[in-house]
Amino acid sequence: MKRLLLSGLLLVIAHSANATSIYAGQARAAAVCSQCHGIRTPSAEAPFPPLAGRDADYLQSALKQYRDKTRKSDIMNAIAGSLTDADIANVAAYYARLKP
Ligand code: HEC
Repeated sequence: MKRLLLSGLLLVIAHSANATSIYAGQARAAAVCSQCHGIRTPSAEAPFPPLAGRDADYLQSALKQYRDKTRKSDIMNAIAGSLTDADIANVAAYYARLKP
């Protein structure tokens, strides 16, 4: 019985690791991204582009470009360098669903 429960649990964990998770995205955004992208300044010179409500595909491709360094930004190249495809999908899904 215990063994059955355990394998069921592992299945759930394995499954959620594959699926895009806005909850995982939210956790990462709160821990990392919001330090800069949460800051809202009305100034046109604000260095941090807003992410909320942006197209998920756009966010994903921007993050992959930063990771590949095909798009240059010292800050974002460093941050995106440690993101996996799943991380990118998760944060993109999270930000896309936020209301700007
Ligand atoms: C230390 C500050 C900082 C942190 C932390 C940070 N960013 Fe950024 N981000 C920037 C800056 C500055 C830019 C603009 C870079 C440029 O000119 O391309 C940017 C640009 C972006 C863009 C491109 C937006 C556009 O309009 O094209 C995306 C997407 C993005 N960040 C996502 C993220 C995500 C997701 C995280 C968390 C994993 C994150 N950023 C964490 C500073 C930060």
